[in-house]
Amino acid sequence: MSKKRIVIAGGSGFIGTALTQAFSERGDEVIVLTRRARARRDRVREVVWDGEHPGDWMPFLDGADAVINLTGKNINCPHTPENLRGILASRVNSVNALAAAMGQGAQPPRVWVQASATGFYGDTGNTVCDESAPAGSDALAEVCRQWESAFAAAKVPQIRKVALRIGFVLGRGGGALPVLSRLTKYFLGGAVGSGRQYISWIHLADLVRIFVAAVGSENMSGTYNAVAPGAVTNAEFMRELRRVWQRPWSPPAPVFAVKLGSRLLGSEASLALVSQRCAPKSILATGFQFQFTDLRAALNDLCH
Ligand SMILES: NC(=O)c1ccc[n+]([C@@H]2O[C@H](COP(=O)([O-])OP(=O)(O)OC[C@H]3O[C@@H](n4cnc5c(N)ncnc54)[C@H](OP(=O)(O)O)[C@@H]3O)[C@@H](O)[C@H]2O)c1
Repeated sequence: MSKKRIVIAGGSGFIGTALTQAFSERGDEVIVLTRRARARRDRVREVVWDGEHPGDWMPFLDGADAVINLTGKNINCPHTPENLRGILASRVNSVNALAAAMGQGAQPPRVWVQASATGFYGDTGNTVCDESAPAGSDALAEVCRQWESAFAAAKVPQIRKVALRIGFVLGRGGGALPVLSRLTKYFLGGAVGSGRQYISWIHLADLVRIFVAAVGSENMSGTYNAVAPGAVTNAEFMRELRRVWQRPWSPPAPVFAVKLGSRLLGSEASLALVSQRCAPKSILATGFQFQFTDLRAALNDLCH
């Protein structure tokens, strides 16, 4: 396989670090667009951008094999109007900035893989959502809708476009799993709220493989749910997490306690209470094979 140039905007974070490693390990040239570039010892190059305006970063997109955009203010914060504005603006602005840069280069990138989230569907209770399900109506669903609309509106006709609606990513180095593991070890790993809300999880290793497939497979375009086939309820998820940390029982966390705890932790209670039962229909239709379809196997892999 010939060496590719992969530009990863927002590539310094949890998912980006795993992607950067995966692409550079297979010999690709990786360029990370970041607000704070550091000199690195590995072959990855960090280039400064502000996620919003044109700049010296733009020529790096010219002739790139792939652009991956992971940029966005982290949603793990209180969803005040001000924070929601920042969550939305960081996503939409980065899409618009990349689209403008791609429109100016002599040779457009071959593929643009854009992060989105299963938050697109809002709170869907027990209803199984594949990619044809409509957008929800809560604040994060509206963020995702506008994020994806900006991506769809980007006028880059020669570029193959893939949007990934990412679920609840399970990994060692970031995301919610380390926090939930810590709480569970302190006997605070009970079911949250009713415990009946669904969690559409995905192991980080499978998510990385989906991004790699999206970059390399000419037949992939459009929107894909990036979730494992087996969504579980919150009660099942917490039971499996307690099993892995050998805590047979913890008291359930009623909604008021979740709200209080979230406030103390500087987080947002609705993230733990919303129900999303998503199915990876389109990615399975491409022939993609998940390594982790079973939550127990995923947690055993990540927690031991
Ligand atoms: N992790 C999950 O479970 C999950 C689930 C669904 C969807 N997603 C989506 O996948 C993408 C990557 O997620 P992640 O977990 O890797 O996120 P992350 O660790 O928070 O990384 C996001 C990156 O975006 C950049 N960024 C943050 N705020 C910004 C701002 N205001 N303006 C410009 N850039 C900003 C940061 O890069 P610099 O500081 O280096 O500039 C940061 O490294 C996000 O868009 C997220 O919404 C993640």
